[in-house]
Amino acid sequence: MKVFAETDRLILRELTNNDLEGMFQLDSDARVHQFLGKRPIQDKADAQRYIDHTRTQYQKYGIGRWAAIEKETGEFIGWSGLKMNDENQMNGHINFVDVGYRFIPKFWGKGYATESGKAAVAYGFEKMNYDTIYGMAELEHKASRKALENIGLKYVQDFIYEAENIPLAWYEIRNDKKS
Ligand SMILES: CC(C)(COP(=O)(O)OP(=O)(O)OC[C@H]1O[C@@H](n2cnc3c(N)ncnc32)[C@H](O)[C@@H]1OP(=O)(O)O)[C@@H](O)C(=O)NCCC(=O)NCCS
Repeated sequence: MKVFAETDRLILRELTNNDLEGMFQLDSDARVHQFLGKRPIQDKADAQRYIDHTRTQYQKYGIGRWAAIEKETGEFIGWSGLKMNDENQMNGHINFVDVGYRFIPKFWGKGYATESGKAAVAYGFEKMNYDTIYGMAELEHKASRKALENIGLKYVQDFIYEAENIPLAWYEIRNDKKS
């Protein structure tokens, strides 16, 4: 199984079909979806589709959200990492890479979004040689916005995400080594 990165407390590895139970636990939880359009999934087939889509990203782009495993317990805590946004235009961008994270609530508040997000951004700059990595969050989503800032992204502007007609905050970080 491919390990993409490791941090002090987490293993960041490829998401596989064996993560189906964990992915269903994650995405069927209403607390997790509070700032994600409030549509938790009802069906394991939706979790499987997410895994399939992520694995297609690995093949097409060499990136995709990573499964995050807590080293201390060996537990699947959720996912973190980069994604190629190749479907919907956002803030005038298409085919751009964003950093994101989504964890089971008992693992919130431990700094894992910050820790894993830093590793994902480093991977994007050092291994993938991207110029810029982006981040988005709902305006009221203080934890996600703080984590983006902790990772080193800078707030740029609010924008309306047309596909959902909701306002989001847009963040960016540039690859210093390329400028
Ligand atoms: C958003 C999420 C990933 C954050 O994960 P996390 O591991 O708890 O985040 P971190 O601990 O790395 O950092 C969160 C920061 O926000 C702060 N924070 C958390 N809740 C907050 C709140 N309600 N108000 C203000 N700040 C808050 C924390 O103190 C921390 O900042 P600090 O490091 O300066 O103390 C997690 O809550 C989650 O999985 N939510 C559901 C999925 C989701 O919404 N994903 C993001 C979509 S944009």
